[in-house]
Amino acid sequence: MAGSSVQRVPQIRWETEELQHRLKSFAKELTPHQLHWASGYLAALADQPQPALTCSTTVAGQSDADEQTRWRVLFASETGNCQAIAEELAHQLQSQGNLAEALDLSTYPPRQLRRETHTLFVVATHGLGDPPEGTQEFFETLFD
Ligand SMILES: Cc1cc2nc3c(=O)[nH]c(=O)nc-3n(C[C@H](O)[C@H](O)[C@H](O)COP(=O)(O)O)c2cc1C
Repeated sequence: MAGSSVQRVPQIRWETEELQHRLKSFAKELTPHQLHWASGYLAALADQPQPALTCSTTVAGQSDADEQTRWRVLFASETGNCQAIAEELAHQLQSQGNLAEALDLSTYPPRQLRRETHTLFVVATHGLGDPPEGTQEFFETLFD
C-alpha cells in the first residue's frame, strides 16, 4: 500500500507451538480495547534490553554505580558443562559492570566462602548423585 506506515511483521520462529497457542487463546479473552492496550504494552517490553540470563535481572538491581559488586561463580564440573555455564554467567556479570570470576570448586578453599558476599553455584551431579571428581572435599567440609 503506497504511503502506508503499516510495517510488515517479520515471520518469527516460536520455540514451541504451545507458546503460540497460549498467546492466541489468551488474546481471545481480551476486548478490542484491551488488545490495543496489550499491543502497546508488549511492544514496549520488546524494546527494553533483554537479560540473557534470568539471574541478570537480579544482579543488575544489586549493582552500585560507585561500588562494584564482587561475584564468585563457583562451579563443580566433570565433563565441562557447568564450567561453560559458570564462565558465561561470570561474563554476563562483568558485562553489567560487576567484578566476577568463575572458580573451580576442586581448587577453591572452602574456608574462603565466608569472605564472599555474592556467590553463585553451578554444580553437576555424576554417578548416583555424587559431586564431580575432585570436589568431594569442598562439599564434605561445607556440610560438616
Ligand atoms: C556418568 C554420568 C553420570 C551422571 N549422573 C547423574 C546423576 O546421578 N544425577 C543427575 O542429576 N545427573 C547425572 N548426570 C548428568 C550430568 O549431571 C549432566 O550431564 C551435567 O551436565 C554434567 O555437567 P558437567 O559437564 O559440568 O560435569 C550424569 C552424567 C554422566 C555422564
